[in-house]
Amino acid sequence: MICPGEVFADTKEFDTNIRQLLPYYDEMLSAIALCVGSDSKRILELGCGTGELTLQVLQQCPNAEVVAIDYSPRMINVIQEKLEFHGYQEKVQLRQLDFGAWANEQTGHDIGGNFDAVISSLAIHHLSDEMKGKLFQKIARSLKPNGRFWNADPLLPEFPELSDIYEQSRQRWAQQQGLDLDQVRNKIGQSETYGYSSHDQLATLDTHFQLLQQAGFSKTAVIWKYYNLGVFGGLR
Ligand SMILES: C[S@@+](CC[C@H](N)C(=O)[O-])C[C@H]1O[C@@H](n2cnc3c(N)ncnc32)[C@H](O)[C@@H]1O
Repeated sequence: MICPGEVFADTKEFDTNIRQLLPYYDEMLSAIALCVGSDSKRILELGCGTGELTLQVLQQCPNAEVVAIDYSPRMINVIQEKLEFHGYQEKVQLRQLDFGAWANEQTGHDIGGNFDAVISSLAIHHLSDEMKGKLFQKIARSLKPNGRFWNADPLLPEFPELSDIYEQSRQRWAQQQGLDLDQVRNKIGQSETYGYSSHDQLATLDTHFQLLQQAGFSKTAVIWKYYNLGVFGGLR
């Protein structure tokens, strides 16, 4: 059994498998890295996983220090090795925490504030919509004025007819790489609810924008989208 968000039964295969499962994974992450602001000094990453977004952001923001949190010890082990390999261990503070508990201000989950940017990819969709709202509020409170929040996540189709189209976009991506999507999906492990996260709890882009506005994000935008994968967020 794996935690929601670990995705694949074998953590060591995450980096290869995620690129086969999701179209334009690298491009999606690079949209966040580009929009995070190269002058950022203090960045918080939620659900850092194996650190692929962390690396892109560190390359884009030479003066940045990152607080990267993830609840999975297996993922933390992988990112730790990767950061050491790239010589980034001094720039990243790794914390094994549940970002739902952080949003709820539970004791032992303080990681400070005053961030220039908060970023996340493929993690927040594991929270209920109520918890997404609480998390966005906590993010807004943890950002400097004008601080940025960018999140990449799969989105709920706006109407049922789009589901088929979104599925076709995934099938086409796998075919273009000479892969059978079912074989890639067979590598997905079985997860059960862990802490605040459960299997996919997708919301539409509209719902995300409502939650962001309620949390105090005055300017919101979608900076990248490919069918039901989106990168969105805004400025506090
Ligand atoms: C699909 S992975 C994405 C990792 C990385 N951001 C990327 O794009 O490659 C999602 C990550 O979020 C973490 N995660 C999911 N729910 C979490 C929670 N409530 N608190 C902390 N980490 C969580 C999982 O352990 C996993 O490492």
